Amino acid sequence: MNKSYPNTRMRRNRSSNFIRNLIRETSFSVDDLIYPIFVLPGKNKEENIDSMPGKKRYSVDKLLPILEKLHNKGLNAVAIFPVIGNTKKSENAKEAFNPKGLVQSAVKIIKKEYPDLGLITDIALDPYTLSGHDGLVDKNGHVLNDQTVNVLKKQALSHAEAGADIVAPSDMMDGRVLAIRNILEQNKFHDTKILSYAAKYASNLYGPFRNAVESSSNLKESSKETYQMDFANSTEASLEINLDINEGADMVIIKPGLPYLDIVSKIKNKFSIPIFSYHVSGEYSMIKCAALKNYIDEKSSVLEVMHCFKRAGCNAVLTYYTPEIIKWLDEK
Ligand code: PBG
Repeated sequence: MNKSYPNTRMRRNRSSNFIRNLIRETSFSVDDLIYPIFVLPGKNKEENIDSMPGKKRYSVDKLLPILEKLHNKGLNAVAIFPVIGNTKKSENAKEAFNPKGLVQSAVKIIKKEYPDLGLITDIALDPYTLSGHDGLVDKNGHVLNDQTVNVLKKQALSHAEAGADIVAPSDMMDGRVLAIRNILEQNKFHDTKILSYAAKYASNLYGPFRNAVESSSNLKESSKETYQMDFANSTEASLEINLDINEGADMVIIKPGLPYLDIVSKIKNKFSIPIFSYHVSGEYSMIKCAALKNYIDEKSSVLEVMHCFKRAGCNAVLTYYTPEIIKWLDEK
């Protein structure tokens, strides 16, 4: 048969709602969402994040009712990021593995209240170092790989001991997934999952996050290009992901999100491992600020973007828009 006009009219299958619904190739639901949250020490605290309009940092007690509501609506998991305050930061980042530290305590409290809510913790030293880097630095400011991995594995173990379900190394040091896997296995945390930020690019879109966790003033003009990937590279992402799979990662993150969907699609075709995307702070703020000016419609734009993640091959997306998306999906 001649598959050309008028035998084929592409508009036939677009002509009404029912047929568009039937032929849709991907869907997006609450099951695809992970909510990144910023945690403050103390009680009864909530602060606006200037660089991310509409988003706040909360002390754990203030977070609990928010999480309860989202969990009741079907939210599967949250990713916890601590804002510890400058007095707890140090050269050796030892607060990172304090069993009574902010993350460890938050995990214990949240896990006790909502045992079925998946808790993902960030493994990296940037909230804890004076340099604002994800690793320890020598006196010339060089980020030290193996010494950092030694701290990261203690950090990961302390999170697992507190009850974290998934530890997520976002530091981009070499060999950290293997070191974390070994220490978890040795301590019988056989089910603790490693979500590796395997392909994390040195992106300019993390700016609002660094403001949110107050690491930008520590980092100053210094860049993370000696450990995070060059955004001009694609082949290198396959090498990173292959290494992390071999070292024991259970899932991988590709980060940032939307501008890096070519990488998601490529990795999806090449490897058999679940892929998460991180719709990062700069991506959140771009949409939010345009929406606040009424330049774009927030709800339809965000839901479109989420579909694009699924179309590219993501299993789930970390997004600050999680609460809004859950509300919008309910309205549909
Ligand atoms: C650092 C970390 C960063 C993000 C998550 N973990 C920032 C960085 O690498 O400087 C960024 C998240 C975002 O921008 O939303 N370990």
